[in-house]
Amino acid sequence: MTSNAWRAHRVHVGSIDVGFIDEADAFALRQIALAPAKPRKPPAYPTAVDQFHVGAFGDGEIVSAATFMIENPDPEDTQMSLPLRCWRIRAMATLAPLRRRGYASAILAYGIHEIRKRQGVVVWCNGRVTAASFYEHHRFRRVRGIRHAPNVPDHFRFVRELVDDNVAPAS
Ligand SMILES: CC(C)(COP(=O)(O)OP(=O)(O)OC[C@H]1O[C@@H](n2cnc3c(N)ncnc32)[C@H](O)[C@@H]1OP(=O)(O)O)[C@@H](O)C(=O)NCCC(=O)NCCS
Repeated sequence: MTSNAWRAHRVHVGSIDVGFIDEADAFALRQIALAPAKPRKPPAYPTAVDQFHVGAFGDGEIVSAATFMIENPDPEDTQMSLPLRCWRIRAMATLAPLRRRGYASAILAYGIHEIRKRQGVVVWCNGRVTAASFYEHHRFRRVRGIRHAPNVPDHFRFVRELVDDNVAPAS
């Protein structure tokens, strides 16, 4: 999508302007906001079956971004691991001076709304230990313990099943 085309997809989540973006338009932000990790150059996930990219805007500039792509978690992470219906969050980041203002939450709400429209049932990610409060605030649960990997900040696996929270489970 060209920059002009994605402007047409922007909506407000609360007071925050959010919508689809081109992956390339988030690269500069990710280079700053994901440090010390280095973001992959776009296209970062060329083999994904499907993916979309969401940005939140402050003064017309992208200040927070995330990618959502189809990928199954490990089978033991959730009982709802249906093929092509699990979505992984990648490279979620907000510029440091603008954190705790709801930008990433607006992106997550937009992304989950889109995933529900596409019949998705699970959202998951490897989230930094330092971002655990963000994911837990949004009702992701940690599965298993802390994970260590070369050149990647220590992280947890976070999983959220997209059950309809307003519907009581059948007894
Ligand atoms: C994690 C990150 C994307 C959150 O972005 P954000 O725009 O600040 O998130 P929000 O403002 O929407 O936060 C929503 C809620 O999550 C929780 N939260 C977010 N960051 C938190 C922190 N550092 N400590 C405690 N709680 C936090 C809070 O409950 C917050 O609500 P509140 O501010 O009203 O208390 C951001 O901190 C970031 O870019 N970190 C560096 C990169 C990173 O870790 N990416 C994600 C994992 S790889």
